[in-house]
Formats: sequence, structure tokens, C-alpha cells
Amino acid sequence: MMKNSKLQVLGIVGSPRQGGNTDILVDQVLTGAEEMGASIEKVILNKLNINPCQACNSCYKTGKCMHNDDMEELLEKMEDSALWVLGTPVYWWGPTAQFKAFLDRWYCPKHETFKGKHVILVIPLEGSSINARHTIGILTDVCNYLGIELDETVLAPGMNEKGAVLENVKLIKKAYNTGKKAIKMLINS
Ligand SMILES: Cc1cc2nc3c(=O)[nH]c(=O)nc-3n(C[C@H](O)[C@H](O)[C@H](O)COP(=O)(O)O)c2cc1C
Repeated sequence: MMKNSKLQVLGIVGSPRQGGNTDILVDQVLTGAEEMGASIEKVILNKLNINPCQACNSCYKTGKCMHNDDMEELLEKMEDSALWVLGTPVYWWGPTAQFKAFLDRWYCPKHETFKGKHVILVIPLEGSSINARHTIGILTDVCNYLGIELDETVLAPGMNEKGAVLENVKLIKKAYNTGKKAIKMLINS
């Protein structure tokens, strides 16, 4: 049985809109997790310097990425956290560029420490849920490949304006309860 006081939860927001739908929903999941005794932290990818992978294999050859940017510290935070709340809006049927650059940087030996981590996805989009299928598909496949447990997806269709999700009390509650449930599950695992 895990000790909930030690559980670290990391929220990662892939939207450039601070206070936008992704940010709000990730906050709700984190608040639910905190309510259950977890320690929480949130990072905004748009505020970090995360360069695209150059496929140079430097990380495998030397143990060090050729980029000297914020990804190294973020990977440490990821390793220290049992649960990641990964949020990205749908941009052209896929994740945002900020999120994809982040995801591509998982291509490094550090991903060997990802096995057994837990993930909650948060995906707002303007259209209907079907338009999130590729975004969900990419993340499902990556998680399966790396042995990461994808616990739940909080999908928020029909969201356009910044903060529109605040009007959807049901969804806000769902996000909050998803955070609570995930920690309950981790404590009992
Ligand atoms: C560049 C761009 C591309 C987008 N592409 C899609 C899309 O393909 N399908 C969709 O349903 N919504 C699309 N949207 C709408 C966003 O997913 C939606 O506004 C979302 O709620 C934004 O989340 P945020 O408030 O966290 O930034 C797009 C928005 C932008 C700015």
C-alpha cells in the first residue's frame, strides 16, 4: 500500500492560454488529488524552454541531450511523480506544438523510469469528442509502449473561448473527482 503523503502529482499544461480550458481542468484534477493528501505541482510548457528533438542520439551515446534547456529538470520532476496530469487542447486534430515537442523529448534513456507511472489526460477542444481521436490515440500508444498506466481521460468537447469550461459545472466536478479517484486508487494499489 502506498503512503498518500508521499504521492507527488505533476500537472503539465500544453496550452499557451494561461487560465484557459486546459489550465482550469488540470487545476481541478490537481485540486482533487491534493484533497486526498497528494503533493501537487504544475508546469506550463509554454513558459519553459523545450526544444524539438534533433534525433542525434546524443542522449543514448553520452547520456546527455544536445539541448541545454528546461527538459532535463522536467524529466526529473516526472521521475519523482507517481501521477502525471497531461493537458493539451486539440490543435488541428493533434496536440499543441508545445506538447508535441515535450512528448518527442521522451525519446531518451530516462523514459525507462516511466514504467508504472500513472497518467490522466485532459483534452479540451472546440468540436465534438471524435476530433480528439488522434490526440488520444498518440498518447494511448505512447503510454502502452512505455508501460505507463493511462488511468482516465477528461475530454471537454465544445470548448472554444478561454475559460468556457467554467460554465460546465459537471465537467469541472468530473475533473476534480478524477484527481481524487486516482489518488485513492494509488493509495490502495
Ligand atoms: C491553432 C488552433 C487549432 C485548433 N484546432 C482544433 C481542432 O482541430 N479541432 C477542435 O475541435 N478544436 C480546435 N481548436 C480549438 C481549441 O482546441 C479549443 O479552443 C480549446 O478549448 C483551447 O483550449 P485552451 O483554452 O486550454 O487553450 C484549435 C485552436 C487553435 C488555436
